[in-house]
Amino acid sequence: MSQTPGPDRNLAMELVRTTEAAALAAARMVGRGDKIGADQAAVDAMRLVLGTVSMDGTVVIGEGEKDEAPMLYNGERIGDGAPPEVDIAVDPLEGTTLAAKGMPSALAVIALSERGTMFNPGPIVYMEKLAGAEDIADLLDLERPLTKTIELVAERRGVEINDVMVVMLERDRHEQTLKEVRELGARVRLIAHGDVSAAMLAVSDRSPVDLLWGIGGTPEGVISAAAIKSLGGGMVGRLWPRDDAERQAAIDEGYDLSRQLTQDDLVRGDDCFFAATGVTDGDMLQGVRYHGAKSATTESLVMRSRSGTVRRISARHDRSKLRSLGSGRYG
Ligand code: FBP
Repeated sequence: MSQTPGPDRNLAMELVRTTEAAALAAARMVGRGDKIGADQAAVDAMRLVLGTVSMDGTVVIGEGEKDEAPMLYNGERIGDGAPPEVDIAVDPLEGTTLAAKGMPSALAVIALSERGTMFNPGPIVYMEKLAGAEDIADLLDLERPLTKTIELVAERRGVEINDVMVVMLERDRHEQTLKEVRELGARVRLIAHGDVSAAMLAVSDRSPVDLLWGIGGTPEGVISAAAIKSLGGGMVGRLWPRDDAERQAAIDEGYDLSRQLTQDDLVRGDDCFFAATGVTDGDMLQGVRYHGAKSATTESLVMRSRSGTVRRISARHDRSKLRSLGSGRYG
């Protein structure tokens, strides 16, 4: 007789300390015009706290190849080698430019799933993405023109086309679709960066946006999928090679470029852990706030797909104690 597993360790509760540390470190660099420095600060702080999490982890989505990023690189082993065996996706600072310019919605984020369950994007940097809430998840199809999908969403929800809002990255590659969506009469929210935050917003209840659409980073697509597995809603993604060389490299490695990958293809299995902490204020999360020299507050989302529990954690941090505990890396 099969038994439903009982409650067990929720790794997300430990992971949130890593995103809090990354956010606190990156927050010191907000608006300073140094996106590499802000990212490095977040990476260093996340790495320091990740060392305290007992696990046998492999970074599948990291800060790039080893030579280009000395920390949290793809393939790096993390943890003390004790079970569980997990795949790790990290983005210590999602929205490096947002943080560097003091713009909204920069996040620190991490996701974990059972070993071998996380999609490895290989050579493909970009992915076409479409995400929306549970009630319209069956309408998400990248084969269909976006304008047609918007019409179906309006019909399903019994609203006017003009009530539907699509969020997309402001990019030249989106110009034609943006024009078509505007001609149809739907509303658009253009964002400079940060489509993980936008994907979470699109699937959330009472969200000001109905759909996320557009071509963004493949790593961010996998991380968004991890979030959606807990938040609910749906997402489809399709690999988008930038040129013939990238296309050929992907085909040679066995990737199917025509396939639409759902959140359950991008992160398979049902035990996925996710934590994100706001760096700058956004619709999903409040950023790091300072209260004089003594304390700082953070807001985080902590979720697990198996239980479907979504926690919103507000934390108060003692900056001087953190500075000594974190060897001056954050606080
Ligand atoms: P970074 O944090 O690496 O700067 O990425 C931010 C981001 O806007 C992602 O949210 C998005 O998926 C990707 O970059 C889009 O890539 P590009 O800026 O090259 O269009």
